[in-house]
Amino acid sequence: MAKKVIIDTDPGIDDSVALALAVNSPELEIMGVTTLFGNSTAENTFRNARYVLAKFGASRIPVFPGAAAPLIRRPEIAAETHGESGLGYLVPEELFGEGAGSVPQQAGAARFAPLAILDLLAKSDEKVTILALGPQTNLALALAYDRELMRSKVAEIVLMGGSAGAPGNTTPVSEFNFWADPEAAQAVLQSGIPIRMVGLDVTRSIVFHNSLVEKLRTSGSEKAGFLAELMRFYVGFHREYERLDGCIVNDPLAVALAIDGRFGMAQPMYVEVCCTDGLTRGQSICDRFGFLKKEPNAGVYLSVDAATVIEFTLERAVGRVVSPEDIARGLELAKIPYKHG
Ligand code: BDR
Ligand code: CA
Repeated sequence: MAKKVIIDTDPGIDDSVALALAVNSPELEIMGVTTLFGNSTAENTFRNARYVLAKFGASRIPVFPGAAAPLIRRPEIAAETHGESGLGYLVPEELFGEGAGSVPQQAGAARFAPLAILDLLAKSDEKVTILALGPQTNLALALAYDRELMRSKVAEIVLMGGSAGAPGNTTPVSEFNFWADPEAAQAVLQSGIPIRMVGLDVTRSIVFHNSLVEKLRTSGSEKAGFLAELMRFYVGFHREYERLDGCIVNDPLAVALAIDGRFGMAQPMYVEVCCTDGLTRGQSICDRFGFLKKEPNAGVYLSVDAATVIEFTLERAVGRVVSPEDIARGLELAKIPYKHG
């Protein structure tokens, strides 16, 4: 039987790949997609989610707009990583323009995301899994509104965020989703709901080398071409900031692991999020060796089979347009630091 899921997301280039994977996965029954600020403004991510779902033939899935700002901080979006629109070089005019495909209006889908999450939980007979691919603000608000419902009806939260030991991507030690709203991430981690944390320790290995992006672009598949166009921007960012001739595609890994946890290895541990300002804002403190003597509150992924995950993601999202050899070659080439000029 398919697993009932709600996808909370901020598309976002890698979120878009994650959505493409999720809608093509029969193991998941997607009850709704909720959006929020993060990679772009809340307005843009709401539009982008509907656009991407329509592109992948899933406009039947309701999308609910959520938090425009963190719980207690000013919103800061990641335009240098995901582009002004949140979808790389694509601009809103192109998204809505003639020939670009229309974004369907959805009757009754304007409910604020945290409340929509509670509605979906209340009406479900079974427990629901939440796939959290952006800052945790919507989930923290849902917890604040009705903690009991969240605790009784959420089977688990599989979240992309944090890092046990890998370098940060927003400060030297902080991952973006936790950094964007540390108080929300901390509230979710302390909620008592089972959590699997898919952080930079494992997502940093999901590298789409530029050679692979080129294969997608020239594959003749319209959907692969669309994802390649998004990733063109992402590669530019990673060349500049990470000396990587490719891009790290974080979010689909959380979806893949929700479908099949055997793609990686997780270790239970106690995790908390640093809610100060400065360089450690949003840092996840993962007590790997149990120094704090606290009950583990998350299963933290520490290793993953990257080649298999990339193959699985692409095959589901756009079909078999690249070979396992293309993927393996890309992962090898990605070890060579990118040199400018
Ligand atoms: C996370 O932040 C965003 O840039 C990505 O969409 C991903 O969810 C990676 O740190
Ligand atoms: Ca995201």
